[in-house]
Amino acid sequence: MRMNEPLRCAALLLSLGWVQAAPAAWQTLGRVVHEQRDKAAIELTTSSHAHVRVSFVDVDVARIRMSPKGSFERDFSYALADTPGALPLDVQHKGDKIVLRAGADGSRVEITQAPELLIDVYDAAGNHVVGDDPARPIAFDAVTGAIETSKQRVATELYYGFGEKALPLSRHQQYMTMWNSDTPGYAPGLDPIYQSIPFFIALREGKSYGVFFDNTYRSYFDMGKTDASRYTFGANGGELNYYVFTGGRERSPANVLRDYTMLTGRGSLPPQWALGYQQSRYSYSPDAQVREIARTFRDKRIPIDVIYFDIGYMDGYRIFTWSPKDFPEPAKLLDELHAQGVHAVTIVDPGIKVDENFPIYRAGKNLYTRTASGDELHAEVWPGICAFPDFTNPDARTWFGSLYAGFLEQGVDGFWNDMNEPGVFVPSSWKLPVLVHDPAKTFPLDTRHDGDGLAGTHARYHNVYGMQMARATFEGLAKLRPQQRPFVLTRAGYAGVQRYSAVWTGDNASTWDHLGLSIPMLTSLSISGVPFVGADIGGFTGTPSAELYTRWLQAAALTPFMRTHSAIDTAPREPWTYGEKYEAINRASIELRYQLLPYLYTLFADSAASGIPPMRPLWFEYPQDVGAAQVEDEFLLGRDLLVAPVVHEAQTQRRVYFPKGNTWLDWWDGTPHTGGSAVDVAAPLDRLPLFVRAGAAIPTSPPAQNTGDAAKLPLIVRIALGADGSGRVYQDAGDGFGYRKGDSETSTLSLHGDRVHIDPPSHARFRRIAALEFIGVDKPPSAVTIDGKASIATHFEATTKHLRVELPARQVSDIELQR
Ligand code: GLC
Repeated sequence: MRMNEPLRCAALLLSLGWVQAAPAAWQTLGRVVHEQRDKAAIELTTSSHAHVRVSFVDVDVARIRMSPKGSFERDFSYALADTPGALPLDVQHKGDKIVLRAGADGSRVEITQAPELLIDVYDAAGNHVVGDDPARPIAFDAVTGAIETSKQRVATELYYGFGEKALPLSRHQQYMTMWNSDTPGYAPGLDPIYQSIPFFIALREGKSYGVFFDNTYRSYFDMGKTDASRYTFGANGGELNYYVFTGGRERSPANVLRDYTMLTGRGSLPPQWALGYQQSRYSYSPDAQVREIARTFRDKRIPIDVIYFDIGYMDGYRIFTWSPKDFPEPAKLLDELHAQGVHAVTIVDPGIKVDENFPIYRAGKNLYTRTASGDELHAEVWPGICAFPDFTNPDARTWFGSLYAGFLEQGVDGFWNDMNEPGVFVPSSWKLPVLVHDPAKTFPLDTRHDGDGLAGTHARYHNVYGMQMARATFEGLAKLRPQQRPFVLTRAGYAGVQRYSAVWTGDNASTWDHLGLSIPMLTSLSISGVPFVGADIGGFTGTPSAELYTRWLQAAALTPFMRTHSAIDTAPREPWTYGEKYEAINRASIELRYQLLPYLYTLFADSAASGIPPMRPLWFEYPQDVGAAQVEDEFLLGRDLLVAPVVHEAQTQRRVYFPKGNTWLDWWDGTPHTGGSAVDVAAPLDRLPLFVRAGAAIPTSPPAQNTGDAAKLPLIVRIALGADGSGRVYQDAGDGFGYRKGDSETSTLSLHGDRVHIDPPSHARFRRIAALEFIGVDKPPSAVTIDGKASIATHFEATTKHLRVELPARQVSDIELQR
């Protein structure tokens, strides 16, 4: 048994708050007693023998480390893409203060030396960004190892990000815990859930900064909940190791995120098929049902790119096996799917069935996590009693990654890592109620991990277990199939998970509240560095009404990862389940996604280069607009599309806030809306309120049944008249890594008044632009010229205010509407 019953009862009571944990015996650092420098860092010893080290990773990224132990550990982090460098440091003493900078143009850190060591950070222009609260200096508990720091807070400051939280968009005056938790059917407001990303972006009077607290222990953020005049973050152990991003000259959220993702890495470009529509269920089984689902999509002409195989495909839930009864010929089945343009993704959980006759179990011995007494850790999950690879051990990762070979050979295209918080079952023999945050639902805290050479307990490595599993998968796929881009989907993760995987928001529920919550959850994850995100469409637990499913599919059509998924005990849920009326609307929602895939793909390419995600909360693009700061039922896709889904039952119109400084045209009928206004717009069931920024050029595609077919069709670029602007179309082979060697192309379209100029790529190899569609044209122009010559290949539609202009097959550069 992993935890005896009295112990577990105590842990349960503790987790319920019925008994109080012993309060931390906080001790502050005291004053600086010793200073030591090298070229790129200053290290201070304080009167409490703690050590503080300050350096600059970049001119606007300060790093602060504090170890209560008097020495620092080897500098190692699972979150970071590389070991962070440090710039040469300029150190000056001004009175009692030590002033640090890494460049004349960058931010500065000021350290107050006594009576307590205090740290303040200023931006390049000299403005105060963030500073320690003198009433609550950095503290630690020498007995438990807990550490924490508190910052002064201005009452109006807002906080965003924090990864995956089932909370409102701005997390001011919220208390959050970072501890990956398997929380099926989580209610809105429940915290923590599956992912832990201890990073946030603050916004105060239009200016931003960011903080990344790189500590993998159970950690917490009290963002002014206990006391509105300060916020506090800390953890149960480890170093106080954090980065402050001052956001460059502009102090913009985009600069903060660029710097954060420079440190923690950027999501690589997914294969294009992974951006198509995906259909899942727990579980489609047997093979005949999978065939039937694929065939029905094609018969009904509803686009689809991926079908999922949830745990039901396996033989007794043994990973990398197929049920001989239900899936006797997997390779043949997958071939059939591929022939229809459908990809296959299988679930792979971390639990490996303890069974001496199971070769994978036998092969993994020595690579499993071990109990405090050194035995192989056993716990129950789907297959029964399982052992669990220690994904913090590089050998275990390499071994696990190699296991994908067989499935790749059979034709599986992508992989879905689940239950990797890690989540385990509470044995039913215990006959105690299972609580959402039951401490027995994961490994005991004293479980041993390798920690890539920094051996430690589960208390230390719990939050990175899932991410390291996704890494094992990603790296395994990259090695086994170097010509193709890996597609990995993970439920658990930590900061930096974007380097390996897409993320979905776990077991949400079939409620309107959850549909509403999906928007702040996904925009928050996005601006926490994770661009490829989605929620189970329709809600995982429970059966949605026809209206809820239809609205959800519509809302999700423009989220980065689009997948319907549902629990085992729910009614069938495919786009056609609810009858013809809904089927037609659902088809149109999926078609809209395929229409906008060239735009979404361009955004993904941008995101891989800059870290700026496709899906954004309004404030991120409009930090100066106070009206945008807390809008959480709308989102931006890139800069140019504003999506305002209906998230309430029986609603057929909704109020939309249009961010300040731009004009927004209705995607469907061209109606202009002035930025800074809130307008009630029509939203019948078959209409997603969608708006395009005047001046934008949005690449689109004619509808296709899958991304492979779409790649053969020429592009159509939608131009939103009413302001000057520009847009881009990024294209490449859609898979593989040729794009990294220049096998890609970008066309730029610029709009000046009524004239569009196209800058083609130097060697056009991919889809050509076959037409422009102007939105917001009140009456037909007297003529349209293409490179100076009048064109007759135009079509005007008065009801939608759309004007379509066909472009000849030869390269053209200037298209002008004469009015
Ligand atoms: C977990 C996953 C869910 C999956 C189920 C069975 O609950 O979150 O998506 O369907 O396990 O594998």
